[in-house]
This record gives sequence, structure tokens and C-alpha cells, in this order.
Amino acid sequence: FVGVKLGILGLGTVGTGTVQLLQDSAGRHPLLQDIEIYRVGVRSLDKNRAVKLPESVLITDLEAIVNDPQVEIVVEVMGGLEPARSLILKAIENGKHVVTANKAVISRFGAEIFTAANQAGVYVMLEAAVGGGIPVIQPLKQSLSVNCIHTVTGIVNGTTNYILTRMQTEGSDFSDVLTDAQRLGYAEADPTADIDGLDAADKIAILASLAFDGRIKLQDVYCEGIRQVSKTDIAYAEKLGFVIKLLAIANKVNPPAISIRVHPTLVPKAHPLASINGVYNAILVEGEPIGQVMFFGPGAGAGATASAVASDILNLAATLKASTTTPNPLLTCRHQDYCQIAP
Ligand code: HSE
Repeated sequence: FVGVKLGILGLGTVGTGTVQLLQDSAGRHPLLQDIEIYRVGVRSLDKNRAVKLPESVLITDLEAIVNDPQVEIVVEVMGGLEPARSLILKAIENGKHVVTANKAVISRFGAEIFTAANQAGVYVMLEAAVGGGIPVIQPLKQSLSVNCIHTVTGIVNGTTNYILTRMQTEGSDFSDVLTDAQRLGYAEADPTADIDGLDAADKIAILASLAFDGRIKLQDVYCEGIRQVSKTDIAYAEKLGFVIKLLAIANKVNPPAISIRVHPTLVPKAHPLASINGVYNAILVEGEPIGQVMFFGPGAGAGATASAVASDILNLAATLKASTTTPNPLLTCRHQDYCQIAP
């Protein structure tokens, strides 16, 4: 095992956060020293950047990154449907593992992408696609997979939760708060995807596909955003003992039928999702025999999303290393005093 070379596609909010995190956290895990930021694909070389990278690392030819035989893991953090989808497929075809934060591509083209990945024998990791920094994809895929999940209910869009929270606590106007959410790096490039519930629809389609072990089509998700929610609605809800949240809900109604929807919802103040405020997301998973499990954490923003991207990179690096050495370093405790598995 001689280390892993990353080809990162995109240096926007998430890309910059990821590079920064990998650079700053070098000593935090033994595997990080084996991970090299080898190429970063950007639109223009002239821009001032918040991160320092050697000149040879930045390139504008994204195709060259996914075709480069040196690159083992392609990290797609550029967003948008194209060329992201084509670049992911090309990377897979070239035998590269992929880490992506792109919920829109996965919710629409997941079937095509995972079929290609299975054929090529590579991994596609997507922890950052749902819930920002919250580890929810891996738990659904692994730790909870023995359960029969019947309901997933989430606040999965940080921007709208931030807007609704400030409308509720400060009586702020929708448009003023949206500008703040964009400035803080929560909103999508086109915030319509957040406001109209489309981003949440992408995410619940992905969560439902994992929870119910099927391929949920995005067009089957009912979707209504928060544009119509006024300060008056919020004030009346408050008087009646509710808060208004944009919920994404997937449940088995009349098995095998599944209902999947995104809409503003009156949530009783005592409900665990009622107190999730600001940019925070929460995903409540219900099933048998486990009962209820709730995942909670920052749902958007550079650092949080970078944490999820980096965890996927680290997991892949551990898998690659485990195929050449044993034991798997992720199973090996870093704090030697508490080690149960010998390094
Ligand atoms: N715009 C998204 C949100 C970013 O606000 O949740 C994280 O997916």
C-alpha cells in the first residue's frame, strides 16, 4: 500500500472545506498521511482561493482527472447534474472509487451509477449527500440494515430550517433570511432547490431507497416547499402549540406501498423534531426491532459537509489498505491504552 491519490472535482464551498479539512487534520488519523490531494479540478485558475495548493495540483480539465491512471478516488463536489453525472460514470468506467456529495445526481441517476459501479467493482460513497455532517448513510446501509424500517422522517434541508427558525424566533422576513443563508454557504447555487423542497426531495428519495432497499424514483416524491409559509402562519401555529417544519417523510403505508413526501408540516412542540433549529438537520428512523433512532447534526455548511466527505475518503482508504495489509486500520484503536485489537 503506497497511499491514495485523490482527484477532487470542484473547489466551491464543499470542495474548499474538504481540502481545508484534509490539510488541517493530518495528524488526527494515521491513514490521513497516506492520502494525497493530487489533482483539483476548477473552472478558472485565476481566482483567489481560501486554500493553498501547489500550482501543479489545480487544473481546469476535469476529464483529465477522471482519466488519470494515478487517481484512485474521485471526489465529486462540484454539484449540478452535468457534467457531474458523466464524470462520475467515466471515473467508474476507469475503475476509480467515487465519493460524491451530489444528492441531485444520486437521486436521479443512482440506478445507472450503482449498476456501473457494481460492474466495475468499485465503491460509490455518498455520506455527504444527505444531512451534511450527520453520519446517516453508513448507519442505514450497515448498522441498521438488520431492521425492518417502516418510517423515515427528517428535517433534511438546512437552508429552509434556518429560514423557518429565524422567521419563528425573530419574526424575520423570508427574503432577508434567505440572503443570510446564502452568505453562510448553506443554500444551493440556485436556492430554488432549497426553498421549493427539491433538495429535500432528492435526500428523502435517497434515504428511502436505502431504508426500504429499493430504488425510489424522484418523480414519485410529492414535493411542496416553504414559499407559501408566512409569518402569520408561524404565529398561529405557535399559539396552537405547533412549530412549522419542512418535513421529508417516507413510510410504508400499506406494505409494499410506500408514501414519500416533502411539505411544510405542523409539528407538535413536544415532538423530537420540533426543537431542531437553525441549520441543523435531524432524521428519525423507525423500525423493528430497534424502535426509534434519531440522527442529529449540522445539515449544511463547508466544515460539516467536508467532515462527511472526508469520512468517506477515509473509509475507502482503509478498505484499499485492508486489501493489502491486515488488520483494517479503522478497526484499530488510535489510543494505544485502550486498544483491544493489536495494530
Ligand atoms: N442546500 C443544502 C441545505 C446543503 O441547505 O441543506 C446541504 O445539502
